[in-house]
Amino acid sequence: MADETPRPSLLETPIGRRRALAVLGASAAAVALEACGTGDSLAPRGWVAADVDPANLKQDEPVTVRFSGTVGGTAVSGSAWLVLREADELVAFDPKCPHADCAYEWTDENRFSCVCHEAFFDLDGNVISGPPRRPLDEYRARVIDGRVELYVPADFATPRPTG
Ligand code: FES
Repeated sequence: MADETPRPSLLETPIGRRRALAVLGASAAAVALEACGTGDSLAPRGWVAADVDPANLKQDEPVTVRFSGTVGGTAVSGSAWLVLREADELVAFDPKCPHADCAYEWTDENRFSCVCHEAFFDLDGNVISGPPRRPLDEYRARVIDGRVELYVPADFATPRPTG
């Protein structure tokens, strides 16, 4: 004869509850990592001033600029790569390599180079070669009242040193 005793559900047993919470925690962590990995910070963003005279920018010649300001009540400062594209279009790149957050440089070969794992990116931030699976993260940039501003997240983090 079959056992008629009702079985507790997975969430009604202490071990089942712990395991379920562990699974939920791992799923939440995976979602958080994915959000970080794509550069889609959920932190508020805001315009901050960059320390560059827009008159000194040359088309297709990236320069690193420092910025500082307040975003969502948080003081934010750091640096970014700024590129003047045609028709006065500005774009800024997050200074962290999208592979593992190392700093990268613009080279004489007209490409960005990350020495941590030998990655290269073109002027548009696209991966030329190396382990990164996505392009450089971009920030919006504009010229207002003769000064350059960048649209950065409140949780901006500086790159890892390459040395
Ligand atoms: S951190 Fe740049 S290639 Fe790995």
